[in-house]
Amino acid sequence: MKALNIGLVGTGLMGRAHSNAFRQAPKFFDLKRRPVLKAVCGRDAKKAQAFADNWGYESVESDWQSLIARPDIDLIDVAATNDAHAEIAIAAAKAGKMVMCEKPLGMNPAESRKMVAAVEKAGVPNMVWYNYRRAPAVTMAKQLIDSGKLGKIFHYRAKFLQDWTINADVPQGGPGTWRLDASVSGSGVTGDLLAHCIDTALWLNGTIDSVSGMTETFVKQRKDVATGKKKEVKIDDASAFLARFSNGSLATFEATRYARGHKALNTLEINGEHASLAWDLHDLHRLQWFDHRDDAALRGWRSIHLSEGEHPYVGNWWIPGCQIGFEHTFTHQVADFIAALGKKTPAGPTFKDGLATDYVTDAVLKSAKTGRWTKVKQV
Ligand SMILES: NC(=O)c1ccc[n+]([C@@H]2O[C@H](COP(=O)([O-])OP(=O)(O)OC[C@H]3O[C@@H](n4cnc5c(N)ncnc54)[C@H](O)[C@@H]3O)[C@@H](O)[C@H]2O)c1
Repeated sequence: MKALNIGLVGTGLMGRAHSNAFRQAPKFFDLKRRPVLKAVCGRDAKKAQAFADNWGYESVESDWQSLIARPDIDLIDVAATNDAHAEIAIAAAKAGKMVMCEKPLGMNPAESRKMVAAVEKAGVPNMVWYNYRRAPAVTMAKQLIDSGKLGKIFHYRAKFLQDWTINADVPQGGPGTWRLDASVSGSGVTGDLLAHCIDTALWLNGTIDSVSGMTETFVKQRKDVATGKKKEVKIDDASAFLARFSNGSLATFEATRYARGHKALNTLEINGEHASLAWDLHDLHRLQWFDHRDDAALRGWRSIHLSEGEHPYVGNWWIPGCQIGFEHTFTHQVADFIAALGKKTPAGPTFKDGLATDYVTDAVLKSAKTGRWTKVKQV
């Protein structure tokens, strides 16, 4: 099997998730290319070496430019903070490398458009790590919708709730808290959490025409890790919006980091003419399903445990009854990316799909500022 040499940038949470996925994918899926952990790049040389030793990377680079310059690297994987995505991904594409990039694609649509142009000009395979599409229950939701089992879709409802920034002493900037610094993150929960919900929604239910959003920053000033001084907080702490999909359905989306008790409550519910379905990341191996066509006496919500060979991806793992989890969504993404190499239709979400999500988040932020319904730009 031909090697697919990976060069990873970023040794944090997602660096670990991706490394694990590259290692797992060829062990559980029949792949035509075998990912090889060739080199990792981290800003702290000692940490990067420890990361390489733990995950089995063959070598370490101290800057991403040197990593991209290496002729033995086929694919650059961008798992760095949001402010670094565009520069690295564009340089990688220019060097003819395949690019996988974490979400959100860019800091804003202007950056993302340049990233799309770069991969398209270079003709290199590309993907954004919106991993939740590949939770088996979410993939099954897509299959059920596409098969027409729900009929006409009326409602789409999504939430992503956390509670880790309620304390006003949580600083902004620096490792672990860069998400609170708009100059590194681009936006707050809109680009960080709602972007996941939006990618899934666009995939399941098609394009969004217009949105009406509101955002709030509950803690206005936080200590800047770099200077130790209080600085204005420029991210949105909470964000909610109404949306009209092109298929005529109505939607509500909500994300916050101020919902005490919720750690990553990423949920969706879709109500169609014949059936409804619901999914919840905290219980990610289950799909809730209600079908109005069932016998009236037996009609009710079914909680389907996705652990059978008939369920998407699941047959490649263990035995019926033994479920899989969060890490597997990334492994599925690697498997699908490799399976689509050389094919006419690439595995999504591509950079273009990532830009489509950015257009929605941008419209939400604009609408929140103006207080008006805002049209969503289409790719
Ligand atoms: N798909 C998901 O479910 C998911 C989950 C969490 C984070 N993310 C995304 O993944 C990315 C990374 O998030 P994280 O949680 O892993 O953050 P993290 O803080 O754990 O890690 C970020 C890493 O990027 C490195 N980095 C930043 N700039 C760099 C540069 N110029 N050169 C080399 N390394 C650089 C840091 O040193 C660090 O190792 C973000 O874009 C985030 O939005 C996605």
